[in-house]
Amino acid sequence: MFAEKILMAFPLAYKPEFIVDCWRHEICDDFEEKPSSKERALPGCCFDLLRVVSHQAWLSPCTLVVAVAVASAFLTVPAMGAEKVELSLEASKAGAQIDRNIFGQFVEHLGHGVYGGIWVGPDSTIPNTRGIRNDVVAALKAIKVPNVRWPGGCFADEYHWRNGIGQQRAVTLNPNWGGVIEPNTFGTHEFMDFIEQVGAEAYVSVNVGSGTPREAAEWMEYMTTVQPTTLEKERAANGHPAPYKVGYLGIGNESWDCGGNMTPDYYLSQLKIYSRFVRNFNPTQQDKQQMLKIAVGPGGGEPRWTEWTETIMKAWQQHTWSWDMNGLSMHSYTVGKWPPAFTSVGFGEKEYAEILKSTLEMDELIAKHSAIMDEYDPQKKVALAVDEWGAWYAPLPNTNPGFLVQQNSLRDAILAALNLNIFARHADRVRMANIAQMVNVLQAMIITDKEKMVLTPTYYVFKMYVPFQGATFLPVAFKAGTYRHDDVTLPRVDAIAAKDTNGKLWLEITNLDPGQAVEVEATLTGFQAKSATAETLTAPKVDSVNTFEAPDIVVPKSVSAKIEGGKLTLHLDPKSITVISVQ
Ligand code: AHR
Repeated sequence: MFAEKILMAFPLAYKPEFIVDCWRHEICDDFEEKPSSKERALPGCCFDLLRVVSHQAWLSPCTLVVAVAVASAFLTVPAMGAEKVELSLEASKAGAQIDRNIFGQFVEHLGHGVYGGIWVGPDSTIPNTRGIRNDVVAALKAIKVPNVRWPGGCFADEYHWRNGIGQQRAVTLNPNWGGVIEPNTFGTHEFMDFIEQVGAEAYVSVNVGSGTPREAAEWMEYMTTVQPTTLEKERAANGHPAPYKVGYLGIGNESWDCGGNMTPDYYLSQLKIYSRFVRNFNPTQQDKQQMLKIAVGPGGGEPRWTEWTETIMKAWQQHTWSWDMNGLSMHSYTVGKWPPAFTSVGFGEKEYAEILKSTLEMDELIAKHSAIMDEYDPQKKVALAVDEWGAWYAPLPNTNPGFLVQQNSLRDAILAALNLNIFARHADRVRMANIAQMVNVLQAMIITDKEKMVLTPTYYVFKMYVPFQGATFLPVAFKAGTYRHDDVTLPRVDAIAAKDTNGKLWLEITNLDPGQAVEVEATLTGFQAKSATAETLTAPKVDSVNTFEAPDIVVPKSVSAKIEGGKLTLHLDPKSITVISVQ
């Protein structure tokens, strides 16, 4: 609260809500007075992050440094043994709704993402419902998956839907991912069955790269029409007389790269054609719940990506009745360096800090593309859909490198929380995100090996964040403090807050520091707080993982949270993610 007041007293420029973090994002280059290397070596309080997370504004960087220094003096009271962090929350200042679609998932025909991970076939000894693993479905239901993006990824631009329907399936290849056989036993009907079992919506990516508008249009007619057309009859003959609901349509994937190496202008003309002809005929999706169309967007922050966003958004601003889009996709992986060389397990604090620093760049990337979108769409009608994100590490030894197999550690849980918080802060523009990928691939929720299944630390983050789905974002002001390792400087804590539809308050606080606990004192204004409960996810080491043999190393545990005199107090373990519910 106090921090907010200090900040509000300074002149504000007009940018949407933000994390104020000039140093980490190196936008200090634009400073009138760039911090010298000596200044950079000053104690953390001089460059601490002062997060002002609401719909307020962006402080000029020079103002910020002053504001941070003043605020630091008032907000930090170092405690023995644990760092004290004060937060203030104004419950009456509601922000945007946190779209539940930011907790979306991505499934590609890649490695064991589908085959083995989801699909085992009806004759398998692994318990299944019509070929789909029961254990995986049950786990996914518990995290309330809002939508699943399928069939790719790069795979989508080589996918021909007719191979995946009917009794006799064509056996094809998967040249993108290991060059293995694609049996096509998991096709349209199996995917739709899977998402129905999970309770999620379909986000179908159509083939723009090597397909045709006609092929995509017919796929959509096959899935959605109720009229007695040949395609409708074929769908019924294949076991599904009722039309399917397709909530989201992806028009291509990474069309600037694996999706066909298109220029922005070339893709734009494809987008217009697909947007026009690939129709959803489901009667329930004509007025309400219309299918939303997601165009290919940027894959980074370099000029080629800003030009891409600019081209698509500029055209959209002048679009006519004959084409439209509702979202622009963005892909951004936390890799550290390319090709992926960081290991997913067996690493130390150095790699922990480096990967977290790299993942925090998501904020700047969203800001960059949101700013371009704001120019052409100030009303924020077009969503930014971060429909591929997550950690991408070196493949585990003795695995097919084309299968993108990696372990999932406490570091990934923290990485996931930081990204979800970034999406929540940008809730007015980021209305969809899909972590890559759901099962057995990259930063997975679930790892399987034949009949065995284990839930990853990332899975538990998604579980802990369920209350944030569809909740209203609330501004939280806090001084993040600083965690340093070697030459990497990071905020010590990160936090978001929201109010759910039942009027409950929810806070998430991440302690990034692996060596230092934090004592939190949160002032909650505009809310009659009576009691609080909390759950923490932490583990002995930054690279702790869950395995088939020891599945409960990184699992959430209840911790104590107190409300006294309207204030919330609690202790955060080092390297932890804590979700607090206040009623
Ligand atoms: O998720 C793996 C791959 O990463 C996807 O197929 C592609 O879209 C991206 O480059």
